[in-house]
Amino acid sequence: MTKADIIVGIQWGDEGKGRVVDLYAQDYDVVARFGGGDNAGHQIKVGDVDIALRIVPSGVLNPNVELFVGGGTVINPMGLVDELDRLAAIGVDISRVRISDRAHLVLPYHAAQDRASERARGAGAIGTTGRGIGPAYIDKAARTGITFGEFTRRESLAEKIRQNLLHRAALLEGENVPSEEDIIGATLDAAERLSPYVVDGVAYIHEKFARDKRVLIEGAQGSLLDVGYGTYPYVTSSHTIAGGACIGLGIGPTAIGRVIGVVKAYCTRVGAGPFPSELHDERGERLRHAGGEFGTVTGRPRRCGWFDAVAGRYAVALNGLQALVITKLDVLTGFERIGIVTGYRVRGQEVGFTAAGSPDLELTVEEMPGWDEPLREVRTRAALPQAAQRYVARLEEALATPAELVSVGRERSELVRMH
Ligand code: IMP
Ligand code: MG
Repeated sequence: MTKADIIVGIQWGDEGKGRVVDLYAQDYDVVARFGGGDNAGHQIKVGDVDIALRIVPSGVLNPNVELFVGGGTVINPMGLVDELDRLAAIGVDISRVRISDRAHLVLPYHAAQDRASERARGAGAIGTTGRGIGPAYIDKAARTGITFGEFTRRESLAEKIRQNLLHRAALLEGENVPSEEDIIGATLDAAERLSPYVVDGVAYIHEKFARDKRVLIEGAQGSLLDVGYGTYPYVTSSHTIAGGACIGLGIGPTAIGRVIGVVKAYCTRVGAGPFPSELHDERGERLRHAGGEFGTVTGRPRRCGWFDAVAGRYAVALNGLQALVITKLDVLTGFERIGIVTGYRVRGQEVGFTAAGSPDLELTVEEMPGWDEPLREVRTRAALPQAAQRYVARLEEALATPAELVSVGRERSELVRMH
């Protein structure tokens, strides 16, 4: 059996996984997503058209790749119909998409509930994407969720929506929620459109393995947003780390081959929560503008800061990472000195990433000399400016993980192969 490889983000999301998956997908037969929903956003360019992928895996531009959305995901069916229509309109073959019958529906009342609970949190708001992701996972765990498998049972599907609306009426009071009739109507329409894509997800993925297909598993969000191991409660509601791939696809750990981590050459975060290496000065501002650090889903400016090796080592352990892909190295061009957070201390004691939210946290910041040369044309490790080579080597050393690829520009070809 050919084992499946996993690509995950190892910071707070937006590491550039989409483009990395797009590139690696050339060597695979199937690209599978295992968790999250349309809180994820990946901007791709097809000719002059910009499309934001939300649910469809990032392998979509490789015409020979099949695209699978696993049972661990939560999907807004109306949004997915839109996304498929937009892809089809620019000539993408969407007949390759399959959705697991185990995936859960995200419906308008989930988004309303997301807004209501954020408001109730007041100053402690998480800064969610407002897409209803958390409430959909709450329903899944509470056993009141609705799966794509129920598309074939229209009557019971409608009844479950009615029940769900009834049971959260108090919660949604004053929220702007479409009427029961509208939600049921829209959901049944979407069900009709999407039914041809829904499959027995467990049978689907195991049949791929049985036929020796090469499967690439695509993570969504980043490891530090994992519901169990991230900066809780400032996290998303799914398991984003590599282990989540087994759960989200219904496969065993023995099916996994390599685990590759995508990491930005600096750090960003959208939404609230601990971010020890955040820069609140003009250097943070500069990273934001040079890196185009504004959210794909919500348009929010991302918080920016130095590379955090404490967080990085933690994520390497969580994922069992074997290799790194470093993105956006070019964004650091022109900084005289580049910081790397190499240690956390609380009252003089060395502590680990778990202390990230501590009010007494102190950082050890190592400063490295920067470089002025643009990197976009560079294609080999040796051709990188000395200071950039040293910076990459320092990241590899700090994370005890080799880099296999470094991106130096937005275009597909603007990459440095490290060996
Ligand atoms: P939720 O996933 O919408 O519930 O949001 C929870 C937290 O995860 C918020 O801080 C979001 O900004 C963050 N988040 C969710 N999805 C992404 C993503 O794809 N990239 C970056 N941050 C994300
Ligand atoms: Mg994103």
